[in-house]
Amino acid sequence: MSRGEQEMRTVTDAVSAADGFQTPIEQGQAESAALTDSLNSVSARPLGLGPTPNASEEEVPQKPGPMPALPDEPAVPTIPLPDPEPTVPAPDPQPNPVIPQPVTPGGVPVPDVPQPVTPGGIPAPGADPSVDPLTPPGLPAVSEPGEAPGAESDPAAQLLELEQALAQGEGPERPYRIAVFASGSGSNFQALLDSAQSGRLGARIALLVSDKPQAKAVERARAAGVPVFAFSPKDYESRQAYEREILGELAKAKIDLVVLAGYMRLITDVLVEPYAGRMINIHPSLLPSFPGKDAAGQAVEHGVRLSGATVHFVDGGMDTGPIIAQRAVEVTADDTAIELQLRIQEQERLLYPEVVSWFAAGRVKLEGRRVLLF
Ligand code: GRF
Repeated sequence: MSRGEQEMRTVTDAVSAADGFQTPIEQGQAESAALTDSLNSVSARPLGLGPTPNASEEEVPQKPGPMPALPDEPAVPTIPLPDPEPTVPAPDPQPNPVIPQPVTPGGVPVPDVPQPVTPGGIPAPGADPSVDPLTPPGLPAVSEPGEAPGAESDPAAQLLELEQALAQGEGPERPYRIAVFASGSGSNFQALLDSAQSGRLGARIALLVSDKPQAKAVERARAAGVPVFAFSPKDYESRQAYEREILGELAKAKIDLVVLAGYMRLITDVLVEPYAGRMINIHPSLLPSFPGKDAAGQAVEHGVRLSGATVHFVDGGMDTGPIIAQRAVEVTADDTAIELQLRIQEQERLLYPEVVSWFAAGRVKLEGRRVLLF
């Protein structure tokens, strides 16, 4: 498996979807207030960072705009999820209720839950208690404002950390945190938001990254209270400089999994390598058939009778990473590319949240090119 040597291209199509929502879950507000009395209050940091002028970027062309969804039914059954855990009803400006993962008092996940493994066999954060679960591989440990090195042994720092967590509605147990990258409509992003709100996702959407500040996906994120990083790469001196800034935001947000959902940019090693095994994409075909842009059009043109959606790891190639899950969609003789694309996207909105929930539950393991679900 080659990862980190080439660039990854994703293609998006815009599809309309429901408006954003606000998720209730805020535990420990009272405790937070009490702690605030004895500590200086620390609020979440703004994500807005000043881009530096310049340079043009290659952009993956976008396919036709929003279309009404067509009714369809799943063609391929997927592995059933465990029953969702109940959500905690509480007023919360944060949108994503979470299924808490077991953790020790120090915040290190209890090693009784199967953990995902990177393609290189490196346990993902949380898999090995000796590995900092909050720091992506290849990244230095990230300090929060006011957090001193060695905070784990400093009671005052621990108290501050708890206060921050409570202020963010996380409670003492750390949720699985994902960042979604989207450039267009964000119908997949909306499906992930909806799944988080219902409690089925088992993860918090901690960041929305977009290269299109005016994208509908950005609108959805803001409506749902999800932190947004939305800057055009054209405002940076290079693609790498742009991605380095994103990498910093991912580290600060302590992102466990990067979820590409219609992100129309080439992604370089700057992001691919640190997130190897922890970056996934959804593509509107049954890979390895029809990678790249206009996958539905390619399928119709080729005359296949089955196409569908694929969720796969991002490995640096163009839609070449190990396949995690697929759903098939029948192609009729008179299908247009748009009609097929819309039916595929209906399946995507079912499949993607389900796959993310597998990651959040530590059920995904990679062995060579084979992805095991347990
Ligand atoms: C989806 O069809 C996905 O497969 C492709 O881009 C599209 C994104 O659509 N990578 P949306 O922005 O989520 O509506």
